[in-house]
Amino acid sequence: MATLTGEGASAAPVLTLRGISKHFGAVSALTDVDLQVFPGEVVALVGDNGAGKSTLVKILAGVHPHDSGTMIFDSQEVIVRSPTESIDLGIATVFQDLALCDNLDVVGNLFLGQELRPIRLDEVAMEVKAWELLRQLSAKIPSVRTLVASLSGGQRQTVAIARSLLGSPKLILLDEPTAALGVAQTAEVLNLIERLRENGLAVILITHNMDDVLAVADRVAVLRLGKNNGVFNVADASKESIIAAITGATDNVVSQREATRPIKVETRSK
Ligand SMILES: Nc1ncnc2c1ncn2[C@@H]1O[C@H](COP(=O)(O)OP(=O)(O)O)[C@@H](O)[C@H]1O
Ligand SMILES: [Mg+2]
Repeated sequence: MATLTGEGASAAPVLTLRGISKHFGAVSALTDVDLQVFPGEVVALVGDNGAGKSTLVKILAGVHPHDSGTMIFDSQEVIVRSPTESIDLGIATVFQDLALCDNLDVVGNLFLGQELRPIRLDEVAMEVKAWELLRQLSAKIPSVRTLVASLSGGQRQTVAIARSLLGSPKLILLDEPTAALGVAQTAEVLNLIERLRENGLAVILITHNMDDVLAVADRVAVLRLGKNNGVFNVADASKESIIAAITGATDNVVSQREATRPIKVETRSK
């Protein structure tokens, strides 16, 4: 298969997956999946329903163990046995349901579940930290004392992302962050993803929305039926070629080529 390396990246990758496989009973959810993500890079992970995107996220988040393959995080080979281990490594996951508490304000949601951490912050310190985080993300939230119930979809997504940043992660996984959002709120979240990249984080963005991919991703990795089906540089790949890789329109062409030489994936620099 083609190289999955980021163009011109001089830094070491934050994450390298090699030959990751996972089955559920008779179902092969992932087969031999490779993926690499560098600091300050947004990689969109796309694919049709059932392609294996959520399974890959859950493996990285410590929800499911993988059956075989290698995971290298921050230059160390790792095994992620639980969500806590994933967080402790420096992987932040924002699941699609966000898991926010409507009856708490922004500060309350940001620090929910942090009570057991060694350093406990008082209310004032938490409020200061909350403002700092939101400012860093250029987030448009009127007050950190606003109840989360009264926030828009985009603001809720912002709170969930801000919360995941408290552990100072190196990699953040966003599962369909714009799926439920309108145009303006989607723009707000895409903006926020750009802030994450500027802050040097590696971002894996799972999305169904090709416009989001083209707007914010540096590279796009396609999964199809649980396998790699191409990696593209967004700056110079056509929307049609990405869609063809998702739907399998190019599968025949690819398998004919594969018989004679390695698959050539578009990897021109931006
Ligand atoms: N917990 C599970 N038990 C059994 N099969 C599962 C489970 N999770 C996912 N699968 C199967 O694995 C495949 C990949 O699913 P998933 O990772 O959810 O795909 P995607 O997120 O790309 O839509 C599908 O065939 C799905 O039915
Ligand atoms: Mg899914």
